Amino acid sequence: MRVLLFTGKGGVGKSTLAAGTAALAAAAGQRTLVLSTDAAHSLADALTIDLGVPGGARLSEPVEVAERLWVQQVDAQLRFEQSWADIQGYLLSVLAAAGLDPVAAEELTVVPGAEEVLALLELRLHAASGRWDVVVVDCAPTAETLRLLALPEALGWYIDRVLPIERRVVKALRPVLTRAAGVPMPADTVFDAVVRLHAELDEVRELLTGPGATVRIVLTPESVVLAEARRSWTTLSLYGYRVDGVVANRVFPAEGADDWRAGWVVAQDAVLAEVEESFAGLPLWRSEYRPGEPVGVEALRALAAETYAGTDPLAVPEGEGPFRMTSHGPGDTRGTVLHLSLPLVGRADVDLARNGDDLVVTVGSYRRLLTVPAGLSRHRVTGARVKDGELQVQFCEQSGEQSFEQPAASERAEG
Ligand SMILES: Nc1ncnc2c1ncn2[C@@H]1O[C@H](COP(=O)(O)OP(=O)(O)OP(=O)(O)O)[C@@H](O)[C@H]1O
Ligand SMILES: [Mg+2]
Repeated sequence: MRVLLFTGKGGVGKSTLAAGTAALAAAAGQRTLVLSTDAAHSLADALTIDLGVPGGARLSEPVEVAERLWVQQVDAQLRFEQSWADIQGYLLSVLAAAGLDPVAAEELTVVPGAEEVLALLELRLHAASGRWDVVVVDCAPTAETLRLLALPEALGWYIDRVLPIERRVVKALRPVLTRAAGVPMPADTVFDAVVRLHAELDEVRELLTGPGATVRIVLTPESVVLAEARRSWTTLSLYGYRVDGVVANRVFPAEGADDWRAGWVVAQDAVLAEVEESFAGLPLWRSEYRPGEPVGVEALRALAAETYAGTDPLAVPEGEGPFRMTSHGPGDTRGTVLHLSLPLVGRADVDLARNGDDLVVTVGSYRRLLTVPAGLSRHRVTGARVKDGELQVQFCEQSGEQSFEQPAASERAEG
């Protein structure tokens, strides 16, 4: 199953291009589902599906809108209730014990962004069903999507490290604490719910970082939008997601422009040159600013066909993903090098630390706890550098010589 995620700043045309790409795939014979995780759900509007429900229909199950083309807007509320109910129940009981008004408590137990995360859980079921050749995901604007894609791993870290301890402590202390403080301790079902949720999120993460999954960044040729697109490429790579191309949308056609439009053409050209430079090595597709909103399956498919201009919109990029390891021969003291793609950053932007079995990689306000592969946990980190758009971390079995440059001052590679 090919999974294609569309992300980008608000309003740039994610839903339009997601739906268009899906329509193109379906027309080419692929059994295609376009799925929206965005609570705003404008997919149905773009595809002009009218289910007779005011305010945009909820398509919580896939609905066929053209031959082989299905659309689904996940009912996040329902998924939320299924996955979160036990955990929320516990949190509510704690807040009630603290004397909080139930309505206020309910609000506090709703994790921002959780709905979107849970909407993605739907992907597991689709992968297991064998019903689809292609699933196109129309994501929420960049920031939420990044939070969403970082969560499974962060939660996994908590569950592997903290939860077993907490569970033991809680088991031992539950009777004492409940009596003393009047605060209910989590029952085992709460822990079980967290563990189950983690397992599900883990599956989603594996799907999204697997060989058939890629992320496509949509932007419009404006410098603010480009700046965000650049950051999201870095951050997506940091979390192990593979970006396979950029779509520049709403590009003004140059022909027959009046003064006003000619001004825009010049301004856009300048930014497009920067886009090309920033994303060198990735395909860059251009999509013209249409004289009207491209809505309906036909218009969306035509827009996508023109955008991809004969290239295969579903092609899986060659080479390895953002994370790989290389090792040197047994006689070679340079040991193993862990490579993590971090495009568009310099060494000053990256902070690296080791904490037991974890490498803590920080880029700007994003941090990833990367568990060191089992075979390397006893190795020392002997060097690190940012080179060719990658963070390279060198591990040696013993106190091997340092063949890389010294870590930058901000990189605290302990060992
Ligand atoms: N190439 C284009 N030419 C003309 N109009 C376009 C083009 N691309 C998108 N639009 C229009 O721009 C508006 C925003 O597009 P769309 O909903 O796809 O953006 P989005 O990135 O999904 O937005 P959101 O962040 O709100 O989800 C829509 O009205 C859409 O029809
Ligand atoms: Mg949208």
